[in-house]
Amino acid sequence: MSNTDAGTHKLWGGRFAGGPSPLLDAINRSIGTDFRLWPHDIRLSRAWALALGQAGVLTRDEADALRAGLDRVAARIADGAEPIATDEDIHTMIDRLLHEEAGTVASKLHTGRSRNDQVATASRLWTMEACRTLDAAIRTLQQALLTQAETLSDAILPAYTHLQRAQPVSGTHWLLAHFWPLDRDRTRFANARRGTSTLPLGSGAIAGSAFPVPRDVLQAELGFDALSPNSIDATGDRDFVAEALFACTMTAVHCSRLAEDLIIYGSSEFGFVKFGDGFSTGSSMMPQKRNPDVFELARGSGARVLGDLVSLLGTIKGLPSGYSKDLQDDKRAVFNAVDLLHLVLPAMAGAVSELRFDRGRMRGAVSSAMMATDLADYLVKKGATFREAHGAVGALVRQAEEANIEMTELPTEAFATAHALFGTDARDALGAEASLAARNIAGGTGPEAVQAQLQQARASLTAPSA
Ligand code: ARG
Repeated sequence: MSNTDAGTHKLWGGRFAGGPSPLLDAINRSIGTDFRLWPHDIRLSRAWALALGQAGVLTRDEADALRAGLDRVAARIADGAEPIATDEDIHTMIDRLLHEEAGTVASKLHTGRSRNDQVATASRLWTMEACRTLDAAIRTLQQALLTQAETLSDAILPAYTHLQRAQPVSGTHWLLAHFWPLDRDRTRFANARRGTSTLPLGSGAIAGSAFPVPRDVLQAELGFDALSPNSIDATGDRDFVAEALFACTMTAVHCSRLAEDLIIYGSSEFGFVKFGDGFSTGSSMMPQKRNPDVFELARGSGARVLGDLVSLLGTIKGLPSGYSKDLQDDKRAVFNAVDLLHLVLPAMAGAVSELRFDRGRMRGAVSSAMMATDLADYLVKKGATFREAHGAVGALVRQAEEANIEMTELPTEAFATAHALFGTDARDALGAEASLAARNIAGGTGPEAVQAQLQQARASLTAPSA
């Protein structure tokens, strides 16, 4: 069998008398998924040709011919060259095109390497790039949050624990609560990128290349931080995929939680926020509907990205050391997760930019009972223990609730009866502004603390990515 004719081009087959079943081809073929690795496969193949030349395996002319041929292959693919039926994966397709472009010398490129170290290298190059592009996409969403947060420093709304009204906070403080998780995601992607930057090329199929290929040259050409220390580990290691997928999952989970806040706060019952026209959909039946589909789709995408992480971990957990074909599935998982985030993050950023907040509705949801802690703190400042103060204020909360009035409407005698230390200024402690003003502790919702937090957020966005 000729392994170089376009119609039958394969990277293997000599040891088989019969050809592969079409059923094998169907399940084995991965080019529909891995086609996008082509720029990285070209790049690592150019580096490999150079290194083979330096090792004396190829003449200088042969190495140059292969590199020039690979450039022409890249140009053809960029121009729209498509896979043919026999292209099992992108490595096979590039090999086929290289034979067309460079002739028989193309058959020398695969010396000392395997698709096992090749695909691991190409996948790492792709993943490192994905970590960078996702960093940029996350920043865009963070910028949208920051811009909105800056406008909300005069807004006060309830903060919720157990989704029950807890304490009043500034609008800026609430929105920035969704900024910082994304900041941690950027750190996770930077770490994932560093963890990916170990070069497997030179590991061959599993035992290491038998040709004295200078791996340091490959490392320098391809810009990796380190060389893999063990060829068995290097060809079977997909930790980098798991780490990138975990970073993707956390980002998706954070988008989902932000989406959930906005969906709830955008309901008529809350009415804190209105969704912009550009990112809302209507109903085919109910003319009044303005639906927050972007946020719902973002919330749903979180489940899909999590599924990708779980499927990848499931794939690798039972594998013996070294490469097994199960690993071909790693790309489907990571490509899917990264693609999804590249849809979710910009759409979220756009939808966040279009949000219009209703300060009146926010402020209106702050009831005096939410300052019960401040009232207890008032007693503590006058000398009561917190436990005692908690009991006294609890009694006042119950009275107001029973009378169906605000705590500020309770008669003065009620305060005096609840605790001897309550003075005529007790009601002042029930003001929302005062509650915020008392919390200028670093990280708190006090106006000065929030301004400092805004500064910190701006600084983190303008700093170069880690
Ligand atoms: N398409 C394969 C993958 O993505 C390439 C590696 C094939 N290696 C092999 N030993 N058949 O994993």
